[in-house]
Amino acid sequence: MKDSFGRKIDYMRISITERCNLRCRYCMPEGICLVPMEEILTFEEIAEVCQTAAGLGIRRFKVTGGEPLVRLGCAKLVGMIKKIPDVEQVTLTTNGILLEEHLDELMENGLDAVNISLDTLDRKIYKQITGFDKLSAVRAGICRAVEKGIPVKINSVLQKGINEAEWASLAGLAKEMPIDIRFIEMMPIGFGKKQEGIAGDEVLLKLKEKYSGIKKDMSVHGNGPAVYYHVPGFLGSIGFISAVHGQFCRACNRIRLTAKGELKPCLCYESCVDVKKVLRSPEYRESGKRKEGLRNAVSQAVGIKPEKHCFESEENITEGRQMVQIGG
Ligand code: 5AD
Ligand code: SF4
Repeated sequence: MKDSFGRKIDYMRISITERCNLRCRYCMPEGICLVPMEEILTFEEIAEVCQTAAGLGIRRFKVTGGEPLVRLGCAKLVGMIKKIPDVEQVTLTTNGILLEEHLDELMENGLDAVNISLDTLDRKIYKQITGFDKLSAVRAGICRAVEKGIPVKINSVLQKGINEAEWASLAGLAKEMPIDIRFIEMMPIGFGKKQEGIAGDEVLLKLKEKYSGIKKDMSVHGNGPAVYYHVPGFLGSIGFISAVHGQFCRACNRIRLTAKGELKPCLCYESCVDVKKVLRSPEYRESGKRKEGLRNAVSQAVGIKPEKHCFESEENITEGRQMVQIGG
């Protein structure tokens, strides 16, 4: 499916819960109001939306949250999406705490790759950022995933005055292990507005100083708009998702499904299409009408995708919710 700016939209991020077992300072430091379970889409409803999306050319799906592994049966959902005809890839974004425990089941259900959010390798800083002393659980999850041979990417957000020096040790992970480390710029969404991030270019400069042989890596690494670099001798690569300072929107290929059943075309704006209405209201009960309603909802979400975000002029950002409610 093409959007009105000619971009191919073939990727959907699905948030399956707004709950999380961490309290990251730029995401949900105090926790948020819990949504009653009946407002959250069931796995059957999510799979139905995915089936419609797959029929319209969306071939890759990312299960995310909140923290997806806190929702019971996450692996089962991976299997349900994986079985839909034309689905090429199902991946997961997790904070990694429960990964070691769930990895076998996730892989049995066909999980293709995993992204793990990790902003530091220092135990104290980890606790400062996330509120919990859980770094060793995340590291165990990473090691298990590498051992089992599933592709792993680490997502890191650097914050001024908190973990800005962590780029060096995080990048070092790509030396020892065949995993990609990606530095994501802090986006001014929710509590992210209150934190000062570090521009990707700044980190790249430091990396270039440290590793003179670093070179742009043109091979395809995944779904998104990351730009990758490779250091000779490293087993993995280092990527940049320059969400604020880069030309990130031109390569945008995605829509999002929130846990509450809205299709969201862009992180920056509140506009979305209510797909839960189609899934639940009696007027769409008849099978043909329901299919058509779902197809229209997905096409409409792609159709209203804006050309770009406006993170540089915060007064124009209309999304007022937290990242954890949108699906990080
Ligand atoms: N800016 C950038 N990344 C964010 N994340 C959460 N909030 C923000 C923000 N404001 C990231 C987390 C995690 C992913 C799911 O989203 O660090 O890697
Ligand atoms: Fe949880 Fe991820 Fe938000 Fe941290 S960034 S609180 S791990 S959802």
